[in-house]
Amino acid sequence: MALLPAPEPTHTLIQLSDLHIVPEGQLFHGNIDTYANLSAAFDQIEAAGIAVSAVVLSGDLTEDGDLESYQRLRAFVAERAPRLGAPVLFVMGNHDSRGPLREGLFDAEPSTEPLDYVYWCSGLRIVVLDSSEPGHGTGLLTEEQLAWLAAELATPAPAGTVLTMHHPPLPSPIQLMSGLRLAEPERLAKVIAGSDVRMILCGHAHHPSGGALAGIPVWVTGAVSYLSRTLGYDHGFAGYPAGAFTRVDVYPDQAVATPVPLRPGDTLFEVPPELLAAQHGGRP
Ligand SMILES: [Fe+2]
Ligand SMILES: [Fe+2]
Repeated sequence: MALLPAPEPTHTLIQLSDLHIVPEGQLFHGNIDTYANLSAAFDQIEAAGIAVSAVVLSGDLTEDGDLESYQRLRAFVAERAPRLGAPVLFVMGNHDSRGPLREGLFDAEPSTEPLDYVYWCSGLRIVVLDSSEPGHGTGLLTEEQLAWLAAELATPAPAGTVLTMHHPPLPSPIQLMSGLRLAEPERLAKVIAGSDVRMILCGHAHHPSGGALAGIPVWVTGAVSYLSRTLGYDHGFAGYPAGAFTRVDVYPDQAVATPVPLRPGDTLFEVPPELLAAQHGGRP
């Protein structure tokens, strides 16, 4: 049987979230080498040899929001991003701190204004929103941020828009994470309804989840630092030593988020392209 034609994405993004980088010589929670986890993610992407349009780091870049951790992350990105040939976009999370982030990553004035910006990527608009509330774990977008977003989205982008922010506008089955989600998501829903936003990319929960807001898909990626248990822990919270990230393929009228395990383990079997082609009438 011949296969259906496989559409080519216009853009492929890599979303890495919840890095929780700590200063050199320290371990996160005393036992997790988050820097090694980030390296493992970049190793895997590099080895895959795929064309990456942009890498989105969707918040909780550091554990404590300290300058030293941002400088450590900056040195890592300066070395590794050119090898992927892709820009790296930084998003604020609740563990981050706006002043040290700006100083450590960009040598910018340590302003405490929300870190909102637009990055254009061959016709694709990536809108980065700062959903952090200084001093709190919960998320919130101000009226000013929503007005800025509405003005930006008033003009559609040639290849559509992907919106990213740290806090999911979705409940989580884990009550703790649900309690730390984006507050008043209906205000954001009003702004994005009917816009060219193809997908909203979030982190924060440390577990993957999919949902929707105003009919627009919302993807919550698994974290690079550790994953949170999602069965039997509705009223508690537990992390386990695993990680995940996401590839996001953008097509002319939709986007697809596909999780990638941080350390996928051994291959059990493999079917080479020529054998697939033989089985399916010449089309692998
Ligand atoms: Fe996190
Ligand atoms: Fe978070």
